[in-house]
This record gives sequence, structure tokens and C-alpha cells, in this order.
Amino acid sequence: MNLIIFGPPGAGKGTQSNFIVNKYDLFQLSTGRILREEVKNKTELGIKIDSLMSSGSLIENKIVNKLIEGFVSNIKYKNRFIFDGYPRNIEQANNLDALLQKYEQKIDLVLDLSVSLDIVKKRISGRSACSICGKIYNDFFNTPPKNSSCCDSKFLQKRSDDTLDIAVKRFQTYEKNMDPLIKFYKDLNLLKSVNGERTISQISAEISGIIDSIEG
Ligand code: AP5
Ligand code: MG
Repeated sequence: MNLIIFGPPGAGKGTQSNFIVNKYDLFQLSTGRILREEVKNKTELGIKIDSLMSSGSLIENKIVNKLIEGFVSNIKYKNRFIFDGYPRNIEQANNLDALLQKYEQKIDLVLDLSVSLDIVKKRISGRSACSICGKIYNDFFNTPPKNSSCCDSKFLQKRSDDTLDIAVKRFQTYEKNMDPLIKFYKDLNLLKSVNGERTISQISAEISGIIDSIEG
């Protein structure tokens, strides 16, 4: 089974992907996380995209599409993908379609998490992630477990694009690009809308029900 998860910044794509990966043994392909690793490791690509990422701009399709092929072509992940943050525009969706055909795979489900800008602002302002294991937390909604040696406060980091004005810009970019994408997957009868404004566990329960119904 291959899934896509859509949603604006702070919708909970990473949080719900983490849940889906653990429950259904899938592989989370987060383009944002891969690109942030490149920046952190100061690779040639990382140096090139650092300021674009921090300013909340999208990275060139050519670069992201190339990254994706490296994973889609890997037999280890075949039919185990949850695409988080990709595709982000219609050109990327067409590229994904062609790649999946090339490697004899297909998308089985597209989850669309909807969340308003007001909620996004609060979630983004409270977000941090553990620099050791990558788990995502929130100062208001989802604090790390006490006495955890891994996710201690000294290891928690904020993202450089998680300021309020950049979050608003990312939200607007998302809104601008998504209509044709939503139509693309709706026409293929793959799209399921999920209200992303409830608690993390309520949303996970709904997602489980949807996945079980298509797997069953
Ligand atoms: P990316 O990393 O994909 O960021 P994003 O799409 O802006 O989404 P976020 O990661 O901010 O939010 P999320 O939905 O994962 O929410 P999370 O689960 O963390 O992309 C970053 C950048 O990379 C882009 O701007 C671009 O530069 C580049 N890029 C990436 N992909 C690209 C592509 N395909 N093409 C071109 N460029 C690309 O949750 C947020 C917070 O809320 C957390 O603190 C969490 O604990 C909390 N939370 C989650 N769910 C709930 C809930 N239900 N209730 C309360 N709190 C919650
Ligand atoms: Mg994310």
C-alpha cells in the first residue's frame, strides 16, 4: 500500500505519518525532512537550498523529483510509502505518477488533513523536534515524556522556518498550489478528507479506520 498525506504546514502530516508508519509498517518519505538533513550536513545541495528553506520557499521541482526517484526505485520500500510533503504541485504529481508506473507501483489512498490558519499558527509556534530521534513535540499540545533520556529538553530543536510570518507564507503557498492537486486525486477516486483540527488520537483513529477499510 502507498499513501500520500496532504495538509498545510502544522496540519499534523509528520505526527500522523509517524503513527501510520508504526501501525502499518510503512516508510515515511518526508521531502522536508530529507532536505533539512542536507542543510544540517552542509552538503552541496544543502548549502544551495539553505536560505530558500529558511524563507519558506519551495525547492525546484527538478531537485525534489530526483530525490524521490532514489527512494521509489529502491525495492526495500516498494509498496510501503507514505509520501509526506510530496507532491506539492501538479508537476510533482505527474512526476510521481510516471515514477510509480516505471517501478510498477501505484497510490492507494490520499489523506487530506484540513486545518485553519489560526490553528496552524499556534501549532507551529509551539513545535520542537528531538534532534536525536526526530520525534515531533509541542509546547501546548504534546510535550515529551518525563524522564526520557532521548527527548530531553536539551535535545529539542526548533526549525528555522517556524517563525509566524514564514508559517503564514508557507500556508499561502500551500493554498495556492493545492486545488489542482486535490482535483487530480479526487478524479482518481483516491482522496479522503480528514478534519485535522481534533486531537492527535482522534485523527489517528479516523485514519486507521480509513486504511483498514481499503486494506480489508
Ligand atoms: P515540510 O517539512 O514538508 O513542512 P510543511 O509542509 O510546512 O509541514 P510541517 O512539517 O510544518 O507540518 P506537519 O503537517 O508535518 O505538522 P507536524 O506533524 O509537525 O517542508 C518544509 C520545506 O521544505 C518547504 O517549505 C520547502 O522549502 C521544502 N520542501 C519540502 N517538500 C517539498 C517539495 N515537495 N517541493 C518543494 N519544496 C519542498 O505538527 C505540527 C505541530 O503541531 C507539532 O508540534 C505537533 O506536535 C502538533 N500537532 C500535530 N497534530 C496535532 C493535533 N491534532 N492537535 C494538536 N497539536 C498537533
Ligand atoms: Mg512535517
